[in-house]
Amino acid sequence: MPFTPDLNYLRRLPKAELHLHIEGTLEPDLIFALARRNQVALPYSSEEALRAAYAFADLQSFLDLYYAGTAVLQTQADFHDMTRAYLEHARADNIRHVEIFFDPQSHTARGVSIETVFAGIASALREVRPTISARMILCFLRHLPEADAISTLESALPLRAAYADLWVGVGLDSSEQGHPPENFERVFQRARAQGLACVAHAGEEGPASYITNALDRLKVCRIDHGVRCEEDPQLVERLVREQIPLTVCPLSNVRLGVFPELASHNLGRLLRAGAKITINSDDPAYFGGYLLENYAQTATALGLDSGEMSDIARNGFTSSFLSPEEKAHWLAEIDRVEGSATAAV
Ligand code: ADE
Ligand code: ZN
Repeated sequence: MPFTPDLNYLRRLPKAELHLHIEGTLEPDLIFALARRNQVALPYSSEEALRAAYAFADLQSFLDLYYAGTAVLQTQADFHDMTRAYLEHARADNIRHVEIFFDPQSHTARGVSIETVFAGIASALREVRPTISARMILCFLRHLPEADAISTLESALPLRAAYADLWVGVGLDSSEQGHPPENFERVFQRARAQGLACVAHAGEEGPASYITNALDRLKVCRIDHGVRCEEDPQLVERLVREQIPLTVCPLSNVRLGVFPELASHNLGRLLRAGAKITINSDDPAYFGGYLLENYAQTATALGLDSGEMSDIARNGFTSSFLSPEEKAHWLAEIDRVEGSATAAV
């Protein structure tokens, strides 16, 4: 008899997080601390006043605040401290592997060097090994011209050797509507030629055709969000047939109005149709919960049982850029947790 998982079970499951914008982990207290450290003036009088502004109508209204928040990040230590703070949450949630998105263009545009960004994030990721393994995915901002993305990639490639243990891929994020994937075909082709893996946000606010074009034109191996795929039944069939991972972010989708409430989210339906669904937190400081909270609230709202939640955790590892041996290790660990819970029922 399947049981609805409790928080303890979900915590004990080893988890991978594949859709996490590190700039979206900046909590108000850290924003204020870094603003004081760097003498940056903030347009909010207090942490509470900043938090009160977290009522988003859509993706763009969130992004305006999110980019404004990054102004406090100036030194390598700032990027380190932000990443380290996220990793403490990850540890508490029993996340054992994380693939971190970062947005160099939002920093280089303010005069922060891409070397500073890489060095700060990487130093924190290296400190938490082997408890948590990590990879970095450099995202291009799709509201900017492709030429900007190309020069960002060119400025990052000389750092490849220094971060060979971490930097594995490129992604595409920011304002989706009106910025289709095909606008970035050349930069993705260049990244692919360099052996970088490709992922892209698609079908969050944008139409199902953006998912298809991300697959066919950008040759991505994962779709970030992808929840609007249901508008094209043939696309859903393809996602199931090809087992293309969707990195779904349930609390984010509700906060940004993609779904009116968690109970109407389509991830349970997609999972039961055979899609390779993972659960992720996107920008947890802004959306009301880190990964465990996303797992717990989703299981409750959609009535997902422990087997389904374990499968979602498995999908996190099998969709990751870990080696086959590392994936096998974590699948065996999930089997062990599942087995001990079933024996206890
Ligand atoms: N950048 C940070 N969070 C994002 C999201 N949910 N969609 C697109 N770009 C983002
Ligand atoms: Zn995202």
